[in-house]
Amino acid sequence: MTHQPYSRRRQRVLERLGDGVAVLATAPERLRNRDSHYPYRFDSYFWYLSGFPEPDAAIVLVGGQQPRSLLFCREKNEERETWDGFRYGPEAAAAAFGFDEAYPIASLDQKLPELIANRRALWHSLGHDTAWDQRIAAALNSVRGQSRGGTRTPGEIHDLRSLLDEMRLIKDAHEIDNMRRAADIASAGHSRAMRACRPGMAEYELEAELAYEFRRRGADGHAYTPIVAGGANACILHYVANDKLLASQSLVLIDAGCELAGYASDITRTFPVGGLFSAVQREVYEIVLSAQQAAIAAVCPGASFTDYHQAALRVLAQGLIDLKLISGSVDGAIESDAYKPWYMHRTGHWLGLDVHDAGDYKTGTADDDWVRLLPGMTLTVEPGLYFRPGNGIPEHLHGIGVRIEDDVLVTAEGCTVYTHAPKTIAEIEEVMRHD
Ligand code: GLY
Ligand code: MN
Ligand code: MN
Repeated sequence: MTHQPYSRRRQRVLERLGDGVAVLATAPERLRNRDSHYPYRFDSYFWYLSGFPEPDAAIVLVGGQQPRSLLFCREKNEERETWDGFRYGPEAAAAAFGFDEAYPIASLDQKLPELIANRRALWHSLGHDTAWDQRIAAALNSVRGQSRGGTRTPGEIHDLRSLLDEMRLIKDAHEIDNMRRAADIASAGHSRAMRACRPGMAEYELEAELAYEFRRRGADGHAYTPIVAGGANACILHYVANDKLLASQSLVLIDAGCELAGYASDITRTFPVGGLFSAVQREVYEIVLSAQQAAIAAVCPGASFTDYHQAALRVLAQGLIDLKLISGSVDGAIESDAYKPWYMHRTGHWLGLDVHDAGDYKTGTADDDWVRLLPGMTLTVEPGLYFRPGNGIPEHLHGIGVRIEDDVLVTAEGCTVYTHAPKTIAEIEEVMRHD
């Protein structure tokens, strides 16, 4: 592994700090029950600036004339390493991850006051973790206690996340490479699930096909709890039980992505359990697919974040008119929110280290203050239509839920879709043929 992408990001932060100091801790290990832990996942901001995978670690970035980046981490420990595995220890970690200095994490509380003393500003993820807030407050109080000796306490406290969110919104080449690989693996997982699907299978069997493909290809696992929703379960937006049988005449919606080197992919595909779309399933699917194509066409530099949502909405509203679920004009349907019973979410979100990634969506409070797209931003495009049984919906639409989701990179020319699981009706029916 090269530490350069991470040290370059630290360098950029140091340039922004002036003479300030930033303190950033990784996530703690969390107990699942009694003495066994959840699989460890680092803090995304910490990872973004370090690539350091161990818990019990923190970064201190010291700005000013001689900028320095410091890592605090666990010490080597032969006994613990026998039980739990390798630890870098400060010395090896500094070399491998490109830090100027590294110290045992146990020395952080003692060192913090001297690191923040006489600095104008302290940057910290305020309110993210109460224990860390208290440690920072203790360090500030310790410095304040030295004021009669002439030591000054930082008078400005800033949220480090606001600075990092802005950086994380535009992906660098290293991030784009990771995201492309995560997208490739997730695409393969969805293709595998389509090929494996048979009527009568349980939803969790398709979940297992995805997990197998993700791990087999070296991803860390699922990027978020996968949704494998047969029939009407697809109309429950966050359905994660995945424990029902798949009926031959129904569709199944899978929303699943993998995590690779910390980066998420996020794909949704909807396909017929039996391998062939019925006429009404086809009709709904084509509306959602057209909405997605229109939305992708609206992703380009200079467009606002809401433009692609509006593009999808127009196609979906026209589709709902064609299905005779709403009457009047497309503009009227959008104005009055008449589409909302069947399309109740937005058309996408930022994607990166977090599946719903860091970064503002608006630059102000006015209706049209949406962020303008720039090359390097990555987002999902995921329109859908959901016909929950009831609500006066004609019976032939009951239980049809369709979403199609891809991951898109804004480029200088427009955008690149880097997920590629079968998507058109012809592609899906072809990959599902069992002859
Ligand atoms: N999988 C979460 C989402 O699509 O937003
Ligand atoms: Mn999504
Ligand atoms: Mn999704």
